[in-house]
Amino acid sequence: MLVAGTAGLGACEHGRVRSLVAKVAAAVLVVILVAALAVIGKASWDSRLPGTYSVMDYGTPEYGGGAEGAWHAHHGHGGGTSVADLHGPAGLPDARFVLTARHARIHLASGRAVAALTFDGRSPGPELRVRQGDLVEVTLVNEDVDEGVTIHWHGVDVPNAEDGVAGVTQDAVLPGQRHVYRFRAEQVGTFWYHTHQVSSKEVRRGLFGVFVIEPRDAPSNERDLTVVAHTFDGVPTLNRNDAAGRARVAAGTPVRLRLVNTDSAEQRLTVTGSPFRVLAIDGTDLHEPGELENVGLLVPAGGRFDVGLTMPSRGVRVGIEGTDAAIQLGPSRGPAPAEVSPTEDFDPLSYGEPAPTPFGASSDFDRRFTLTITRKPGFFDGLPGLQWAINGHIYPDVPTFVVDEGDLVQVTIANDSKGIHPMHLHGHHVLVLSRDGVRASGSPWWSDTLNVRPGESYVVAFRADNPGLWMDHCHNLKHAADGLTMHVAYLGVSTPFEVGAAHHNTPE
Ligand code: C2O
Ligand code: CU
Repeated sequence: MLVAGTAGLGACEHGRVRSLVAKVAAAVLVVILVAALAVIGKASWDSRLPGTYSVMDYGTPEYGGGAEGAWHAHHGHGGGTSVADLHGPAGLPDARFVLTARHARIHLASGRAVAALTFDGRSPGPELRVRQGDLVEVTLVNEDVDEGVTIHWHGVDVPNAEDGVAGVTQDAVLPGQRHVYRFRAEQVGTFWYHTHQVSSKEVRRGLFGVFVIEPRDAPSNERDLTVVAHTFDGVPTLNRNDAAGRARVAAGTPVRLRLVNTDSAEQRLTVTGSPFRVLAIDGTDLHEPGELENVGLLVPAGGRFDVGLTMPSRGVRVGIEGTDAAIQLGPSRGPAPAEVSPTEDFDPLSYGEPAPTPFGASSDFDRRFTLTITRKPGFFDGLPGLQWAINGHIYPDVPTFVVDEGDLVQVTIANDSKGIHPMHLHGHHVLVLSRDGVRASGSPWWSDTLNVRPGESYVVAFRADNPGLWMDHCHNLKHAADGLTMHVAYLGVSTPFEVGAAHHNTPE
């Protein structure tokens, strides 16, 4: 008897249909899988950084509403200015230094030895002090640092060719080679120098030092001390003190402490035993700074705060909060005051008194940019993961902000990620206009390393008065190495240097 439908199929027919369905399903699955793999594979492949490339060949130019043009004046030819021609002045230098990069064992105050990368066998390297207006000449010699070395003058707005960025403004200096930097020290204040070749590793291991530009009329009775926070092999230190160090200072002496954070994370520094003032941020004096006490100083990674106080007879303690890293300053051998945990943090946005600035929130800007930091799944250099993104794009697909010489530029920096990002623009200082919509109301606050904390949004402005190709990156150097890096490029300026290439240039 014939019965329609499958109900009448024999058990064996049933099995055949089922296995056919299963085969088709499996085939479809395989096709989907292969397609997915192909897509992922292509994304991974596409994200690989080429062995050699020019930073001018990546990213998307953004013009911020200003004139557009050929910032891609290619590699030196095709007219325009080459980065390599934007040198400091010639002539007889007023201050001359030689810094030799080499491996050395250094010792922390506790006696602990660290296999470090050093300038002149020391880390921090030699403290370089010059006077405002000096023509400075520094010869970098690389003795034995295989991956190469450069020197970047962090916060000093030098001519572009002196900026020390491997693959952008010069080639990395390989063992046996040397490189001369020349620039006029126009600013006054606390700066630092560090390698900008494989910087995430080489700075952490010790290739940095303090650079101070003193005013011509420095007060002669002042005690001027630098205090460098750095973590060696996971041990936090202040001037290599992993336990309290000492500095003798007579009671009544005016003291200027130059706090420098050379780590990749912010550090909360405490000053106990005396009221103090924050005299300067990132090498720029503040206007009429008020007295503070028991206020924590969150120094951004790469940032500098100058602190002024008058030495009390019982001494002062400077420390990294919650660690043994400290320095006791004072007249006596007695115990310095114990650390008092700050109840609040110093906030530059409303500190000090307003003063005239060359531009402000209501200025007529030539260009306005937005730099939004997020994290998103994707590929970075061939590997999948949660990646840093700028304006939604993962390195090297990040924007390049194109400016013209003379432009007044506004940048909104928004941090929509859970990390802290100390954003550092080379070659310029930015004036902070507002944070989270609140206008800056204190002293003019000029910064070169602006800590942008999770959820925060800053509006800053700068005058494009230093032609070149400038890095703009996070100074958590690990973040920079993971792609939190972009550039500000001047119209018509090009670089003949390449990342990778024969000198293995790796700026981050
Ligand atoms: Cu202090 Cu691009 O660095
Ligand atoms: Cu960061």
